[in-house]
Amino acid sequence: MLSSILPLLGLLSVAVAHRTWVDAISLAKSAVSKLSTEEQAALVSGTGFNPAFDCVGTIAFPSSKVSGLEGLCLQDGPAGVRFAQGNSAFPAGINTAATFNVTLMREVGLAIGEEFRGKGANVWLGPVLNLARTPQGGRNWEGAGGDPFLASVSVSEQIKGAQSVGVIATAKHYIGNEQEHGRNTGTSIIDDRTLREVYLLPFKAAVDAGVGAVMCSYNKLNGTYACENSRLMDILKSELGFKGFVMSDWWATSSGLEAAKAGLDMMMPGGTPPADDQPDVWGPTLVKMVESGEVAKSRLKDMAVRVLSAWYKLGQDDNFPKVTLHDPDVDVQGNHRDIIRQIGVESTVLLKNVRGALPFRESLKSLAIIGEDSSYGKGPNEFADRAGVSGTVAIGWGSGTAEFPYIVPPVEGITKKAHEFGISPSKILVANKNDTSLDEAIDVAESADAAIVFVFSNSGEGYTDVERNFGDRNDLKLWHNGDQLVATVASANRNTIVVIHGPGAVDMPWVNHPNITAIVMAMMPGQETGNAIADVLFGVEPSGRLPFTINADRAKYCCDVDYSEYNTIEYKEGLFIDYMWNDHRGITPLFWFGYGLSYTTFGYTELRVSLVRSDYILATVTITNTGFVSGVEVVQLYLGFPKGYSEPVKKLRAFEKIRLDPAESRAVTLNVTDLNIWDVASQKWAIPGGTYTIYVGASAGDIRASETLEVDGYVLQAFKEPFEDERFVNQQS
Ligand SMILES: *[C@@H]1O[C@H](CO)[C@@H](O)[C@H](O)[C@H]1NC(C)=O
Ligand SMILES: *[C@@H]1O[C@H](CO)[C@@H](O)[C@H](O)[C@H]1NC(C)=O
Ligand SMILES: *[C@@H]1O[C@H](CO)[C@@H](O)[C@H](O)[C@H]1NC(C)=O
Ligand SMILES: *[C@@H]1O[C@H](CO)[C@@H](O)[C@H](O)[C@H]1NC(C)=O
Ligand SMILES: *[C@@H]1O[C@H](CO)[C@@H](O)[C@H](O)[C@H]1NC(C)=O
Repeated sequence: MLSSILPLLGLLSVAVAHRTWVDAISLAKSAVSKLSTEEQAALVSGTGFNPAFDCVGTIAFPSSKVSGLEGLCLQDGPAGVRFAQGNSAFPAGINTAATFNVTLMREVGLAIGEEFRGKGANVWLGPVLNLARTPQGGRNWEGAGGDPFLASVSVSEQIKGAQSVGVIATAKHYIGNEQEHGRNTGTSIIDDRTLREVYLLPFKAAVDAGVGAVMCSYNKLNGTYACENSRLMDILKSELGFKGFVMSDWWATSSGLEAAKAGLDMMMPGGTPPADDQPDVWGPTLVKMVESGEVAKSRLKDMAVRVLSAWYKLGQDDNFPKVTLHDPDVDVQGNHRDIIRQIGVESTVLLKNVRGALPFRESLKSLAIIGEDSSYGKGPNEFADRAGVSGTVAIGWGSGTAEFPYIVPPVEGITKKAHEFGISPSKILVANKNDTSLDEAIDVAESADAAIVFVFSNSGEGYTDVERNFGDRNDLKLWHNGDQLVATVASANRNTIVVIHGPGAVDMPWVNHPNITAIVMAMMPGQETGNAIADVLFGVEPSGRLPFTINADRAKYCCDVDYSEYNTIEYKEGLFIDYMWNDHRGITPLFWFGYGLSYTTFGYTELRVSLVRSDYILATVTITNTGFVSGVEVVQLYLGFPKGYSEPVKKLRAFEKIRLDPAESRAVTLNVTDLNIWDVASQKWAIPGGTYTIYVGASAGDIRASETLEVDGYVLQAFKEPFEDERFVNQQS
C-alpha cells in the first residue's frame, strides 16, 4: 500500500508543516522538561554503527515519551541515500555548483530530500560546505568549488529544497576540513579574518537558510578538535545564531567530556563503550558526567532541546515515514532521473571548441568512442563505497556516495543518440577496454570523422585508498595513462574531442594540440552520465561554468595538500584562494573560475550601478545574444573593495544564468548585499568606506564592463598585509 503511493513522491511535493524556530524551540523545551536525565542523554547519543540493518546514525527513543518520536535516522549523503535500495545516484555537489542555476540547485535539494523522506531518514548528512582550497582535496567533489559565494548559494538552495519536504539537512564539515591526509590527527591553522570571510561564509548562508543540523569535522582547528572547540561552537551558535544541533562526524570526538562542555549536541555514531584507544562515547557515560556535576544539567538539556527543535521545526512529529532503507519495494526515485540528466547537461563545461567541432552536425558519418571511462566496466557498484575504478567515473568514493540503481555509461548514451542521428551502427567504433592498449585506440581513431576520448581522475574519502590515492589525489595527472591516450588519439584524428570526468582540475599538457577541437569538463554527473554527455555532443548546449580555476600546473595553485599524517596545515594564503590567488599573484591560468563556452556570443552593455542602501548595491547590465543560435550566459558580478584593506582584487558577489535567442537583449539585475569584511580589532563585520569597483563579465578572467561607486562605510584601520611569505613570490608566472 505504502509502496504503491511512494512513486508519486517525485511528482508531488509532500505537504509539510513547517514551524518557526521560536515555535519549535518552545515545543522542544516543553517536551524536554518532561524527560529524565537518561532520556535526555538517549536523545543525543547514537546507538552504534550498523549500516547493514540500521541507519548510519541512529537515535533510539521510547515513543511514548515525546508524541510522534520513535527515534531518528541519520543517513549519508550527500549524493543520494547511502546503503539503500530504490534510491537515485545524484550528481556530485561540484556539478550542482557548476550549473550556476539557482532554481536547479533548489530543485535537486528537493529531489534528494524526497528520497531521504521516502526512505524514512530524518536527517540528510549533506550538503558539504568545505571549499576546494587545494585541487587535490579528496572530497572536493562533494562540495561546491573554490569560491565562498558560489558555495553559499549552492548549499543554501539545496538546504531549502531538502528541508521543504521536512528533512533535516546537515551543513558539514565544520570547519577547516579541506583535505583528507591526517584529518584525524592534524590541525588547520586559520586566522580570524580568513575563517570568517572564506570558510565560514557558506555556514553563515546555511544558518540563514534555516539549516537544522551542523556536523563538526574530524580535524583540529588551531590545535583543538573541532568537536571540542568552544570558540568554534560560540561562533556558530552566538555569532551566527544557529538554533539547531551540532553532531560530531563519525567517531570525531576524542573526549566526550570536553565535547559536551564545548557545545557538541549529539555524538555519532555512539554505541559500544570505549576501549582505551577508542573515541569516547556518550549514552550512560554522559549520564554519569551529569550526575557527577562535570557536565551541567542545563548543558544536557540544551543539547536535547536543540535536537528536538530541529525535529519540530521540520514538522517531523507529523507522520514521518518509517525507515525502509533496505526495502527494495519502497522505490523513491520518482522522476528524478530527469533532473539528474538536466544537471549533467547544465554542469558540463565546454572549455575548448574550435572549427565548429561541437555540437555534431549532419555531415558526421562515423564516430570513435575511446577510453575506459566511456565504458560500463564491472559497473558502478563493483566496489564498496565506489572505492575502485571500473568503467566510467560518475561519482567519487567514500561515505558521500550511494548505490547506483543503474548507470548509463557514455558508450551507451552516445551510441543510442548516434543511431537517432543517422549514424549507422557499423560506423560507431569503440575502443574502451584498456587505456594502455594504444594500438586499438589508433585503429578506431584513424577510421572515424570524430574521435571522442574519455579520460578521468578520481578522489574520495581518506579512510580507504584507490590505486594508492589516500582520499586526496597524489597529483593532478589523468589516471590510467590518460595523457598518453589523449596524445595518441590526437595524433591520429584531426577532430579529437576530449571528455574529462573527475573531481576537479587536471593537468592538460595537450590543451593546445591542433587536432584537439573540443575539451569538455563533465566532472561527476551521477547515474545519467552517458545520456547527459550524449545530449551535449549532439546539440543541447552544455551550460556549466567552472566552479574552480584550472592552472597550467600544480605549482600555480594557492595551496597543495600536506601529505604528512600529523600535519599542521597553515592556511597561509589567507583570503587568496582559487581565482583570488591568480589575481593576487598575477598568474594567468588555463581556464578561470566561472569560465565556460556557449555556442553563441554575448554582448555586455549599459552597466549601471547604484547604492540602494549603505550595504546594498544594485547593478543592471544589458546582455545581448550577438550570435546566431539561442544560448545560455552566466552573468557574473565581482566586487573590488576599497584599497587599503588587503582584500582580493575581486570577489564573486552575484550571478544570474539566462537564456537568450539570437538578437534578444535583456536587462539583468544583480544584487550585492554583502560588502562586509571582518574587522579583527572590533571583532565585527564592517563595511569599509571608499571606492568600490563593480566588475561584470563571463568569468573571473573575462570582465566586460566595470563601474566604480563611493560608499560611506565605517572608518576602519587599514590592514597590514595579512600574508607575507617569500616562498610564494617566485611562483609568479
Ligand atoms: C586561530 O588562531 C589564529 C592565529 O592565532 C587566530 O587569528 C584565530 O582567531 C584563531 N581561531 C579560533 C577559532 O580560535
Ligand atoms: C591494461 O593492460 C595492462 C597491460 O596488459 C595491464 O597491466 C592493466 O592492468 C590493464 N588495465 C586495466 C584497467 O585492465
Ligand atoms: C593530426 O591528425 C592527422 C591525422 O588525421 C595527422 O596526420 C597529424 O599528424 C595530426 N597532427 C598532429 C600535430 O599530431
Ligand atoms: C535553470 O533551471 C530551471 C529549473 O530546472 C530551468 O527551468 C531553467 O531553464 C534553467 N535555466 C537556464 C538558463 O538554463
Ligand atoms: C535584490 O534585493 C532586493 C532586496 O533585498 C529584493 O527585493 C530583490 O528581489 C532582489 N533582486 C534580485 C534580482 O535578486
